[in-house]
Amino acid sequence: MDIQRPRGTRDFLFHEMSQRKQVENTLRRIFETYGYQEIKTPLFEDLALFTMKSGEGIMEQIYHFQDKGGRDLALRPELTAPVARLYINELQKKSKPIKMYYFGSCFRYERPQAGRWRQFWQLGCELIGGRSPESEAEIIALSAHCLEELGLEDFEIHIGNLGIIRGILNEAGVSRGEQDQIMATIDKGDVKELKDILETFRVDQNLKDVLITLVGMKGHREVIDKVSRIIDGNESALKALKELEELLGILEAFGFSNYIVNLGIARGLDYYSGTVSEIYVHGLGAQKQISGGGTYNLIELFGGETVESTGFAFGFDRLMEALKKQGITMPQSRTVDVFVAPISQEVKLQAFEIAQDLRKNGIKTDVDLVGRKLKRILSHADSLGARYVLLVGERDLKEGKITLKDMELGEQILVEIDQVTAHLIKLCPQ
Ligand code: HAM
Repeated sequence: MDIQRPRGTRDFLFHEMSQRKQVENTLRRIFETYGYQEIKTPLFEDLALFTMKSGEGIMEQIYHFQDKGGRDLALRPELTAPVARLYINELQKKSKPIKMYYFGSCFRYERPQAGRWRQFWQLGCELIGGRSPESEAEIIALSAHCLEELGLEDFEIHIGNLGIIRGILNEAGVSRGEQDQIMATIDKGDVKELKDILETFRVDQNLKDVLITLVGMKGHREVIDKVSRIIDGNESALKALKELEELLGILEAFGFSNYIVNLGIARGLDYYSGTVSEIYVHGLGAQKQISGGGTYNLIELFGGETVESTGFAFGFDRLMEALKKQGITMPQSRTVDVFVAPISQEVKLQAFEIAQDLRKNGIKTDVDLVGRKLKRILSHADSLGARYVLLVGERDLKEGKITLKDMELGEQILVEIDQVTAHLIKLCPQ
């Protein structure tokens, strides 16, 4: 039987896993530096958790199934809704703000292509119960900090606020349902399609012009003044703009000023309510968005108290791809530092004892488990990249010694058996 991997999934081999793990550890470290604590939620949840407010785009992509008890379940397509559920279940009474981060796989039934997988990983965070512009700014600063720490260059952090366009659509009396469709079209970034949908909803010409101008607005601080002239008189849109301006000021205080204000960001998920942000890395083709996030009102929608919440998630696979494209690799540590080679079967038990002592002292050690001849052991140790081989021979053992071979220098020395571990601790970096 020829069993293949499911479409849109991947296997990761040793080198790639090692790279991924190091990036993961770097990100965890930075998240923890900002006071985030890790949480884990189930891989599958009640389907309703994702159908309530994630938006139509996500709905079509959900891996949905019924279990043997007839329950409608779904593999999680993202982690914000599960974290909102977790918050309502477990954390409502905890002192706020609550800072949580997660790393886990998500599932979306998408057409697989470069950077678009059916199983992919997100490393992200949610901040519940902080004040708006301050929390949003800190989260954006955190995402920038992560990328800087990894050495990624040429990334662009785009920041918008959905309240500006929603404010305008509300004032024009556009229904919530139509607004959601307009936002979804804006998210695609296709102006022609936007014009068509505005036509379909019989939006008047003046409003159409305003919307098209706004979604095309991109730049630094100067954009704020331009937008404020365009939306003059619309109180709720102006309030959202003010919030955006305040956020930029705080973000600069956090030391990040290389942002791009972009009112064309609408986000694919329907639960966002205010500030939104996306990070792009050019050179990744159509899947250049390595991160997305914003402020949302899911907790309220799920029946929890009204509490300000914001977050973002890195698309971990796309981040890895971006690092690879820019030639950034994490230092590769050795698989094993020491290989213990019994020269004959008679000494294999002593070899195991020695290997175990080294391991207990934190030295990455492998030992021959297949009874190979010395030459084959040496070539296997070499293929693993072992720096040292301990040749355990009967004659040496009788004298209380072991031969230590340096595979890189090709030199070997005799070491007292009770000194071997101490000797290797000095030689092998932990
Ligand atoms: P999202 O933009 O749908 O937001 O996903 C976050 C990131 O996951 C994207 O920016 C992208 O890099 C990556 N991603 C999405 N789909 C795929 C895929 N099929 N293959 C590979 N990578 C993918 C969210 O999921 C929100 N929950 C983020 C958030 C957290 N908002 C607030 N808090």
